Amino acid sequence: MSSTFDVDKARRDTRGCEQLIHFNNAGASLPPVPVADALYEYLHEEEMRGGYETMARCADALANFYSAAARLLNCTSSEIAFCDSATRAWSAAFYALDLQPGDCILAGCSEYGSNLVAFLHLARRRGVEIAWVPDDEHGQIDVTALEQRIDSRVRLICLTHIPSGGGLVNPAAAVGRVAKASNVPYLLDACQSLGQMPIDVEQIGCDMLCGTGRKFLRGPRGTGLLYVRKSLLEQLEPSQLNHHAAELISIGTYRLREDARRFECWERSCAGQVALGVAIDYALGWGLDAIKQRIGLLAAELRCRLADIDGVAVADQGVEQSGIVTLFAEQVPADRLQQQLMSRGINTSLVPFSANPVSAANRGLPPLLRASLHYYNSLQEIDRFIAELEQAL
Ligand SMILES: Cc1ncc(COP(=O)(O)O)c(C=O)c1O
Repeated sequence: MSSTFDVDKARRDTRGCEQLIHFNNAGASLPPVPVADALYEYLHEEEMRGGYETMARCADALANFYSAAARLLNCTSSEIAFCDSATRAWSAAFYALDLQPGDCILAGCSEYGSNLVAFLHLARRRGVEIAWVPDDEHGQIDVTALEQRIDSRVRLICLTHIPSGGGLVNPAAAVGRVAKASNVPYLLDACQSLGQMPIDVEQIGCDMLCGTGRKFLRGPRGTGLLYVRKSLLEQLEPSQLNHHAAELISIGTYRLREDARRFECWERSCAGQVALGVAIDYALGWGLDAIKQRIGLLAAELRCRLADIDGVAVADQGVEQSGIVTLFAEQVPADRLQQQLMSRGINTSLVPFSANPVSAANRGLPPLLRASLHYYNSLQEIDRFIAELEQAL
């Protein structure tokens, strides 16, 4: 495998990979040194100076999160809100849409399970309808079927860009073209794709996007972001307001913020916000094209090596595939494999049914083991993983 990616530097910058093999980047990546240090240093400042005083001193570092996120997504910083998770970001956008009885949500079959719960919630409370757009023969959303399903009742298109399991990358930009042509708002769950590949909201054409800090962006836990396109933002009223989201003008009146921070609260993990800004800058420093290429090379190698093992099936689909490799073994259940690998210093994870329930039900697969790779993982680690997996089988 030839690549100009400086893997040695990536590994030197990742203290955690000295002692274990971390193939659970779709759960939470190992943060690199600049991110971890920014977090520790900020907390130390709070310890020594006080939280409010540190916030004032570190105003530039806090503001950097918004500009870094805007550079990452090719939008303006006024279209970004800081959130404590992708779920919180997705929900803030979803519940602001004011869907009415009979309105229809069109969603791809790999939609994240938590989003499905919110659909069911609004179906029960408001009489909203949900229609699942079928997958094509590659397992990704069938864009022609989506196009045919659009009618005047469709008020929202939802897509999970990279599902938690199943290996595929959905054609987000093709869905964006349908959304734009039909003038339907488009909410993209980019939780697993942010930090794994370039995400340009103009090129994709999504109107709202959620992401999390801890996964492929390598930021701290308890951080995330929401993007809302300015033209839609003006029409969206958050389902809950507070005096950060809206300015209290008098005892009887308030004025909603004009920017995406209308979806925020004032209190947050300031250390997390600063460190997420550092994580985004760090990813941009590597370059998202280079990161995507390096992850693609590693994941292709792993899928190829797994295909050679008798009794193991790779469960991945898609024309384009991500760094999330999923598999099952005929003889040994996934949870037993995961535990055995962990006892040998290799972190992997399981894909629960609740991760992407519609496609899981359609495919009828057994529980899957997930080995999710990042650019700092190495070919030597893949060799060790294969050897230990064969041993465990
Ligand atoms: C596709 C997808 N969307 C959303 C989420 C939720 O992210 P968070 O835990 O940051 O709320 C996850 C988490 O695994 C995910 O895989």
